[in-house]
Amino acid sequence: MAFNRTTKGKPKAPRSKIIVLGGSVSAIALVFLLSSLVFTTGSPKSHVKFEGHNNNKYLYWGTRIDCPGKHCGSCEGLGHQESSLRCALEEAIYLRRTFVMPSRMCINPIHNKKGILHRSTNATSEDQWEASSCAMDSLYDPELMSETVPVIFDNSKEWYRVLSISMKLGARGIAHVDRVSRIELKENNRYSDLLLINRTASPLSWFMECKDRNNRSAIMLPYSFLPSMAAKKLRDAAEKIKALLGDYDAIHVRRGDKIKTRKDRFGVARTLHPHLDRDTRPEFILCKIAKWVAPGRTLFIASNERTPGFFSPLSVRYRLAYSSNYSYMLDPVIENNYELFMIERLIMMGAKTFIRTFKEDETDLSLCDDPKKNTKKWQIPVYTADETC
Ligand SMILES: *[C@@H]1O[C@H](CO)[C@@H](O)[C@H](O)[C@H]1NC(C)=O
Ligand SMILES: *[C@@H]1O[C@H](CO)[C@@H](O)[C@H](O)[C@H]1NC(C)=O
Ligand SMILES: *[C@@H]1O[C@H](CO)[C@@H](O)[C@H](O)[C@H]1NC(C)=O
Ligand SMILES: *[C@@H]1O[C@H](CO)[C@@H](O)[C@H](O)[C@H]1NC(C)=O
Repeated sequence: MAFNRTTKGKPKAPRSKIIVLGGSVSAIALVFLLSSLVFTTGSPKSHVKFEGHNNNKYLYWGTRIDCPGKHCGSCEGLGHQESSLRCALEEAIYLRRTFVMPSRMCINPIHNKKGILHRSTNATSEDQWEASSCAMDSLYDPELMSETVPVIFDNSKEWYRVLSISMKLGARGIAHVDRVSRIELKENNRYSDLLLINRTASPLSWFMECKDRNNRSAIMLPYSFLPSMAAKKLRDAAEKIKALLGDYDAIHVRRGDKIKTRKDRFGVARTLHPHLDRDTRPEFILCKIAKWVAPGRTLFIASNERTPGFFSPLSVRYRLAYSSNYSYMLDPVIENNYELFMIERLIMMGAKTFIRTFKEDETDLSLCDDPKKNTKKWQIPVYTADETC
């Protein structure tokens, strides 16, 4: 309800009755109320993107995206957590339920340079969670998201109300499920009629719940969904920078984390992306992007390379810009590296020509032709050129 813009102007949904009645109603009255809710959610709303948008049932996956019960230090970066969140949101769309989002997101300390970690020995694990996480609504705009898939946070009044109702109803209000397929959750009215489904997602990663789903086509959210759902302050900052950049192209250059090597038993350095270190060096970038980016263009560079001036050689042909050029605008706005990366992504999405590090799909332009997903084959890095420029 809280974020459901599309309810504006419509007759009050039965859900609002719950607000009025709160916890003071007897369980019997609630059963009555809920059964009426259940039967009113099915009406088709053709102008809404996903049918059943205005629903009154909830899907909960836990308090944290990934690494439940573990420390944020074991969490993956923003991209991985987004894959996982997208997986959960898709299930909510499929089940036509409001998704109960964690109100905070883990920030893996290795993905954060803004130093929000204050690990004192006295800190309780809850303090550390506070220190190494950020409020979800500092990253995403829940209202904007709710236009596609209704969401509430797990610290909202609405959630506490749902919890208290479902506890009163017991097995008639809530199901705790583990490894039950989403088809089962949808088709079997043992689940489909319940106010709340509490899914215990894979402890490794929420994303595992989507791994062997064979029919994604009907329910998939595009990869760009969460990036474009950025919180308003982040979207505003990106808009300002885009306006200053004017007409620009962009490259995303992933080095740091991805160019790591490890030695094999003969002491030879090996990597999962044998051409990456080469292909992300300025002289190779110049060669590779010449056919896509005309001389004199403004080129926005987003990278995790920390060597100062690393990309300067590109300035022989382009007007270079980085988010650091706008730190006077960004520093007052951003609190951590995830926010910075979200702004950079929006800027990259606004480029006339955008070149990724790796291809995500066939039509992408990329600096490197190594497959992005490789977890097994460790190869010797290649530094010689394949072609001359
Ligand atoms: C931990 O608490 C003790 C007693 O309150 C204090 O003396 C000490 O300085 C604290 N240590 C840190 C690292 O905050
Ligand atoms: C969800 O289920 C898990 C596992 O059964 C349980 O530990 C957790 O307390 C439940 N959460 C809610 C909100 O019911
Ligand atoms: C995929 O899902 C859609 C909608 O849920 C359904 O109509 C279609 O038959 C499914 N296709 C396969 C191959 O299962
Ligand atoms: C951005 O800063 C770099 C120096 O770090 C400078 O060379 C470049 O001209 C600046 N770009 C813009 C668009 O101001």
